[in-house]
Amino acid sequence: MSDRKILVTSALPYANGPIHLGHLVEYIQTDIWVRFQKQRGNHCYFVCADDTHGTPIMLKADREGVTPEQLIAQVGKEHLADFTEFGVAFDNYHSTHSEENRTFSSLIYKRLRDAGHISSRTITQAYDPLKAMFLPDRFIKGECPKCAATDQYGDGCEVCGATYSPTELKNAVSAISGEKPIEKDSVHYFFNLADFTDMLSEWTKAGHLQAEVRNKLAEWLEGGLQQWDISRDAPYFGFEIPDAPGKYFYVWLDAPIGYMASFKNLCDKQGLDFEEFWAEDSTAELYHFIGKDIIYFHALFWPAMLSGAHFRTPSAIFAHGFLTVNGEKMSKSRGTFITARTYLEHLNPEYLRYYFAAKLSAGVDDIDLNFDDFSQRVNSDLVGKVVNIASRCSGFISKRFANILSANCSEPALFQELINANEQIAEFYEAREFGKAMREIMALADKANQYIDEKKPWLIAKQEDKDADLHDICSMGINLFRLLAVYLKPVIPALAESAESFLNIDSQAWPANAQPLLNHVINDFKPLMTRVEADKIAAIVEASKENLEKTTDKHSRVAHGSEKKFEPIADTIEFDDFAKLDLRIAKIIRANQVEGSDKLLQLTVDIGDETRNIFAGIKSAYNPEELEGKLTLVVANLAPRKMRFGCSEGMVLAAGPGDKDIWILSPDKGAVAGMRVK
Ligand code: 2FM
Ligand code: ZN
Repeated sequence: MSDRKILVTSALPYANGPIHLGHLVEYIQTDIWVRFQKQRGNHCYFVCADDTHGTPIMLKADREGVTPEQLIAQVGKEHLADFTEFGVAFDNYHSTHSEENRTFSSLIYKRLRDAGHISSRTITQAYDPLKAMFLPDRFIKGECPKCAATDQYGDGCEVCGATYSPTELKNAVSAISGEKPIEKDSVHYFFNLADFTDMLSEWTKAGHLQAEVRNKLAEWLEGGLQQWDISRDAPYFGFEIPDAPGKYFYVWLDAPIGYMASFKNLCDKQGLDFEEFWAEDSTAELYHFIGKDIIYFHALFWPAMLSGAHFRTPSAIFAHGFLTVNGEKMSKSRGTFITARTYLEHLNPEYLRYYFAAKLSAGVDDIDLNFDDFSQRVNSDLVGKVVNIASRCSGFISKRFANILSANCSEPALFQELINANEQIAEFYEAREFGKAMREIMALADKANQYIDEKKPWLIAKQEDKDADLHDICSMGINLFRLLAVYLKPVIPALAESAESFLNIDSQAWPANAQPLLNHVINDFKPLMTRVEADKIAAIVEASKENLEKTTDKHSRVAHGSEKKFEPIADTIEFDDFAKLDLRIAKIIRANQVEGSDKLLQLTVDIGDETRNIFAGIKSAYNPEELEGKLTLVVANLAPRKMRFGCSEGMVLAAGPGDKDIWILSPDKGAVAGMRVK
């Protein structure tokens, strides 16, 4: 074992949505690096957690009719299951909603406060009077002040790209309730980032950052550092600030502290020394793998917070680029917004691990998942070059030599050539130049295949008294395969483990001094990896496309293409069954198009004491504008349904055969939103 002590993190995923392939670039990148460190004998720990706090999570739980705690428990389980099946092997997966995180967040806050780095002042913000809550910019919608595009968020226009403050939006409404926001004052707490200008100027130049990131930081530092607003008012799902009742830590304050909290949780489970990794004078290494969008938080706020609270700062921040699919941003309508789960239902996760490895470098460039390239690389490299060596040689070893490898290493120079490559490959892994490492390993695989091609064991097998040659050649092939498997082990650990079972050997460490397996009994060969099938990729894309329309039809009363004039009357129900239905008069506050759907409109309806988000299959019959302000009937106690576009929280009643002929039901004059239909 070496003396290096290394703590590694990946960014904490938000607990309000599934893991998708975009996320996986980072988790796979980090996992490869960690597995490599462990294989080299370093004491390396990989921790992560769900990022559970904040307004979106609170509102999502609300919409789904569960508590935030229930929501984050469920999502946490799903995230961990996805990661585990992708071979991402955390030493600990925790939650930011944990006692450890509460303790460290309070501790860091108090140390910063006591050192004079926290100030408070009153600010004015948009407030939803109906929901009785302050509205983050993303939860205010209205017309862009520059180009007048409708339905734009409070922080910027997606049509013309303008950025502005939410108060500049025209006809602004709360995206939660549809109400017009009012302005309201409240006291906020701020972290005085500018106190750390000198410290950060030095730190950002001291070799902890990639060159491109360092340049970005220099720009930000030049522009001057602003105070950072670290508090949010109740209602908020998070930790209450110790000396400020009703005020909560902003999610981004306690999220990075979640790295410490997860590690503390691991220390308590395994008896590790927390201080050794986090004390101000720690000599352990600390690395954060992140996406390039969250550099500001990790390279400015985080080192400043740590330094101000007398903890060690990170050894390095490793930022990566975004994932595009077939050259474009991931898109739900094109079927390229692929969740980890959908992928796992169709394809071997190690294909993707290898593909990402082959594309990854130490830089922040975006990487593209091109499906043709993906199939071609996996099929040609892993199946065609690596696994093929074992399958070509193992048959003879099994049939002709009772699965015992030759006692003789017939090509020691070739074996040594593959061993000698270990240093270069290790340098590439260490430097996160995984693409270069994969090219190096595949060049070795080419050499191994060339050797087999030249020796032609399939011809030798037919010749008499060439048994010893056949034995040597195939044993050599198996020994070369073993080295390729160990070099690829950080990337495709499951295949490497199957290879170890086939080779009948222990888990392989880094092969700096490996010796050939001689006179060694192996096991029968079983196919280690099959080719990527094109129809599986097509199935993933299909499954990822919006299928909301289909789901909606199933729940809709509208009859399509019926021969009969009307549907037959349904089976009789008892009065009690009818009484279970809670039908409400609802006022349509807003109606929006649903991008990518040709059947649905998204309605925000007021049903009295609350508003609901409902997807209704009435697009063919209504323009959104003509619906706004109308009263209609809604099934209010229908269980919320998760759809591709969001969650539908009820059903609008409508009648008619379909297409243009659909009519929503409306009450008579005098009815008021919220009244129950009896
Ligand atoms: O951007 C995100 O997805 C955040 N949830 C990442 C948090 S990383 C860390 F700081 F916790
Ligand atoms: Zn605009």
